[in-house]
Amino acid sequence: MGINLTGGLAVFLVSGLGGIWLAGQATADGGVFTAAQAEAGRKAYQAQCASCHAGDLGGRDDAPALTGDAFMATWGARTTTELFDFVRTTMPPEGSSMTPDEYLAIVAHMLGQNGGKAGSSPLTATTGATINAVATGKRPPSALDVPMMARR
Ligand code: HEC
Repeated sequence: MGINLTGGLAVFLVSGLGGIWLAGQATADGGVFTAAQAEAGRKAYQAQCASCHAGDLGGRDDAPALTGDAFMATWGARTTTELFDFVRTTMPPEGSSMTPDEYLAIVAHMLGQNGGKAGSSPLTATTGATINAVATGKRPPSALDVPMMARR
């Protein structure tokens, strides 16, 4: 409880960023995905994407990095919804039977690995947050393989 919208909004409106944040539907705590979503996404990413894009999202061969400056240059001005739609319709290239929720979780993991903060609201297909507004492209220092990842 105690979602302190007013204070945060006032700061963003005054700073001129209010429009971006409102359009992006960032929640009061600034997150557009939940930690649980990102954690589920990490597992799905490792199973479905890491073989080409590498476990640390660093890219490999002709599969580009999904974190860092190059990724932000390509995707920063686009929205989480555009990224979700792209990934859901084109990745992995050979197709998959993953559900939209699984793809949303993977996008949440990608945002987290680009410095995005988890919050109280899950990412949805219509979140539409500008990626520049919710991610930096910098991987969080300790986020690599954080939770007790049972070795398969
Ligand atoms: C078989 C290898 C392979 C797998 C598996 C794969 N990708 Fe890709 N991915 C590629 C290649 C190659 C490209 C670059 C060509 C293209 O865009 O189609 C790419 C491009 C992308 C891009 C665009 C990157 C940019 O800078 O524009 C994203 C985002 C992406 N992949 C995400 C994913 C996600 C998420 C998964 C898992 C659901 C995944 N990929 C699985 C090979 C793969």
